[in-house]
Formats: sequence, C-alpha cells, structure tokens
Amino acid sequence: PKTTALNNSAKIENLKPHTADATNQKMTTDHGVGINDDQNSLKAGDRGATLLEDFILREKITHFDHERIPERVVHARGSGAHGVFKLYKPIPELTKAQFLNDTEIETPVFVRFSTVAGSRGSTDLARDVRGFAVKFYTQEGNFDLVGNNMPVFFIQDAMKFPDLVHAVKPEPDNEMPQAASAHDTFWDFISLMPESTHMIMWAMSDRALPRSYRMMEGFGVHTFRFINDKGESNFVKFHWKPLLGVHSVAWDEAQNISGKDPDFHRRDLWEAIQSGNFPEWEFGVQIVAAADEHKFDFDLLDPTKLIPEELVPVQRIGKLTLNRNTDNFFAETEQVAFHVGHVVPGIDFTNDPLMQGRLFSYTDTQLIRLGGPNFHEIPINRPVVPVHNNQRDGFMRQTINVGKASYNPNTTGNNDPAQVKAADGGFVSHNERIDARKIRARSKSFFDHFSQARLFYNSQSEAEKNHIVDALRFELGKVKTIAIREKMIGRLTQVDNGLASKVAAALGLAVPKQELEPINHSIPADGNPADYQPIEV
Ligand code: HEM
Repeated sequence: PKTTALNNSAKIENLKPHTADATNQKMTTDHGVGINDDQNSLKAGDRGATLLEDFILREKITHFDHERIPERVVHARGSGAHGVFKLYKPIPELTKAQFLNDTEIETPVFVRFSTVAGSRGSTDLARDVRGFAVKFYTQEGNFDLVGNNMPVFFIQDAMKFPDLVHAVKPEPDNEMPQAASAHDTFWDFISLMPESTHMIMWAMSDRALPRSYRMMEGFGVHTFRFINDKGESNFVKFHWKPLLGVHSVAWDEAQNISGKDPDFHRRDLWEAIQSGNFPEWEFGVQIVAAADEHKFDFDLLDPTKLIPEELVPVQRIGKLTLNRNTDNFFAETEQVAFHVGHVVPGIDFTNDPLMQGRLFSYTDTQLIRLGGPNFHEIPINRPVVPVHNNQRDGFMRQTINVGKASYNPNTTGNNDPAQVKAADGGFVSHNERIDARKIRARSKSFFDHFSQARLFYNSQSEAEKNHIVDALRFELGKVKTIAIREKMIGRLTQVDNGLASKVAAALGLAVPKQELEPINHSIPADGNPADYQPIEV
C-alpha cells in the first residue's frame, strides 16, 4: 500500500489491506494457482511413491517447516491488543509532542503485556515482572513506551543485562526451571548484586502476581526528557494507572491457576475486550524541572530508584483504552517490534546507563528475530504517516521505491527526500552539554542500594509484608547452595532486620547483625525542601 498520511483513528484501516479472509474463497498456492486437492499428495499410483514434482505438497510442507521464528530473548510470552489514547490536558509548556497537545486527536495504540523470563509457552502466573509496552501511532511517527509493571529495575548499567538474563533464565545444563526466579543461578547473581535489592522487594511482593493485566500499573522506569518548542528540557517519569485499581492473587492461588489455566491473563484480557469490557489506564507524568536535577538524595539517572509520589505527584493527563483484540496473534502480537529508541519530537532520552544500552539492543535483536532490516514494513509496525528515506533493499523488502535517486544529495530524481526542518517537526536531539573524560565507572550518586528497598518494604501493610517473607522463604528454600541463602539473608538485613530474621528462621539460618542506615528522603539532599517546587501541568 502507498504510504500516505492517514487520519488518527486509521491504524486499523491501515491494517485492513493486509488482512485476508478466506471465507467462501477458492484455495490457491502462494503464487495464485488454484488447488483442487490439498489432502492427497501426487503419487505414482494410489500406493505411491510420492512424486518430487508435486509443487503443491512441496510448497505446503516448506512453508510449514519455516513457520517458527525465534521467540524474544526476553519477554517471550505476551498478549497484545489494540486501543486508543485520548489526551485530557495539553502540556505545550513541557513538550511539543503533538499527541500530548491536542485533545481532539485519538491516537491509535497497540499494547503488548508480557512476562519476562519464561518461554513463549510458559504460564502467565509465574512470579515475574510484567512488560507493559505501548506503541503510539502518532501523526509525528511512532512513539514506543516500553515499560514494566514495576517502577525500578534490577541493575544500573546495560553492561550487566546479559548476566542478569543468563542468571534468571532456566539453568544452562538442564533448562530448568521455567519459573522466573526459584533457582540457584538467579539468587547467586542477586546475592552478588546489591543494586538489585530494591527491585527484589518489588519482585517478591504481590506486584509480581497480578490478578489481571487490566489491574496492573505501568512505568517507563527510566527518567525521560520532555522538550518544548523553545527547546527547553524538563525531566519526566511516565506512569499508567489502571482504572480498575491494582490487584494481585496470592502465591497458592497463582500456583493453582498456573496448573489449571496457564493462559489465565491472556484469556482474561481477550474475554474482557471481546465482551466490550474495555480495560482503561490513565497516563500519568511526574515532572522534575531541569534545574532540580540534583536536588534529590538519589540520582534521577539511576533506574533502581523511583521518585516517591509524595514528593513529585503523578499528574494524569490522558487515557488509554484497549478496545479491540488482534485478528492474528502471530502477525500482530508476535511480529510487533517495540523499541525505547522510537521517540517523537518533544520526547528525548537521558543518560541513564541502562536506557543508553537499551537504545542499542532492541533494533539489534529485531534484525534477527524478524528476519532482516525491513521489519518496520510489517503492517503492525508501520507508522500511520508516510516513510521516505534512502534506505533500500534487504530481505523481504515490500516497498517498491520508484526513480533513480536513492542517495542524497542528488539531481537525478524528483523524489529526493528533502529533510524536515526542526521548525516543521523534524527531530532534533536535546543539545545537552557533555564535557567529561571517557571512563568505565559508576557515579557515587548511584551507591545507595538500600534506602528505597526499605522505603518500599515499610510502605507495605502487615499482610503484604508477610507475603514478601513467604515469597523469600519459598524462593530461597529452593536454592540448593547454602552459601547463597546465607548471603541473601545478609542482604535482607540491609533492608529490615525483622524481614531478615523471619526468612532466616524459616531456613534455619542465623541472622548477621547489621546497623541500618537511616532513610533520608528529604528534598533537596542538603536539607532545604523550600528549594523544590513541583511543576504543575
Ligand atoms: C523486550 C533488551 C531492560 C522492558 C526486550 C527484548 C530485548 C530487550 C532484546 C526483546 C525485544 C524483541 O525481541 O522484540 C533489554 C536490555 C535491557 C532491557 C538490553 C537493559 C539494558 C528493560 C527495562 C524494561 C524493559 C528496564 C522496562 C522498563 C521490555 C519489554 C519488552 C522487552 C516490555 C517486551 C516488548 C514486547 O512486548 O515486545 N528487552 N531490555 N526492558 N523489554 Fe527490555
């Protein structure tokens, strides 16, 4: 199809030319030749042998032989749905992104929820983080918010991501267990990685066992930048707040459900949408003025920290509604390609070292998962606006580019893709000043690994605290290496002595004595809260 500009409710229309409904249609080969028998192969006589000449058999079997593509290296198990995003409140003083400035626009979206560690066929109700990835098909190109249902992450630097994933995936010698966490390699890594402590509190909490995808919060995790039309930048954390509230199941329920219905979340989402019970989330932003970057006692660039909502309120500026199931799981949910690097003018990155590594990883993995450099042409990944550049050829190219000019500058073609000026919506990276030495290092401002872990634990009700204790007893009880269990108890003392003692008692271990540092979440770190003014949108 021609890539012409479409109006905003048009992503679904844009998918239609690619759909195929075989109802009452005659069967053909992939090359359009009518098939009058697709049940009997061509044989020499009715008892064979089968003839190599049978192109209908060969085509059917060949296609079948190649039906599988690699599953995602993480987040392999997921469920997707279409929907719309409607803005409540324009925020031009913060961002020039058009879809955040016009309350008349309905931006089409595609959302994929996922577990992280299990394979494509694993259970929905494993104790795990959930992915919450949203593709906004805006009039200025695709914006992907590739988030999770927990606001922080296990590690501070992308360099450690392969190690984390190797540790959490099934063990390499025996491919067990499918469950996200209950095994030695995971807890070995965690016990050696103090920065994971905050995330572990979330992962051992009820948040890791959602009642439904419809009842989960979503978080962009990293601090992003908003850029307004004057080129001014402020910091932003993105949130999704489910209108059904946040609900979880208990661990014994999760285990039961996993046995009886491993598709529990997938079914719940599908049936809710099918019955017109459309799930909704409000889109929230936490804004920190550029000038306040260093006024917190943690670093905004550190993805193991959240900004407490009491300090910087989440302001709800729009609503996401999922209102349509997929027609075809593979074509849409499996082939969708999200990427943190898909941003539109008005949204930009920060130097969060985890985010910086992600900016490389997603395209790189999709090049192999989706078979080459043209996966942006798969219908679910196409933007709703025209695409013109001098990228050409490669496996599975769909676009038939006309003319001779596939280079720039040129005088040979009238289709020279003239570049869009910044003023007309061309993307311009924020011109942040960087003047530094090249070093492999971590900022001292990333070194407090326990205050927010403690803050989270203390924010839980007694029942929720007991669930964390039970989860750790269960998880560490499965760890075979006693030294790893002991190290984890030591780590827990840095969060809360009561927590460490309860888990240790269940495992028959001693609790090392540990002096806890006091929690200090005053703003600014040097103690003058009057300095800090939340920005209202
Ligand atoms: C999926 C890498 C951290 C959220 C993926 C995939 C890769 C990846 C390779 C598979 C993509 C595909 O095959 O299409 C990384 C790396 C990280 C990182 C290298 C850190 C350096 C995170 C973080 C979050 C996150 C912090 C949450 C904020 C997701 C989600 C998906 C995903 C939601 C699934 C997207 C979908 O539904 O298709 N990640 N990831 N990742 N990642 Fe990450």
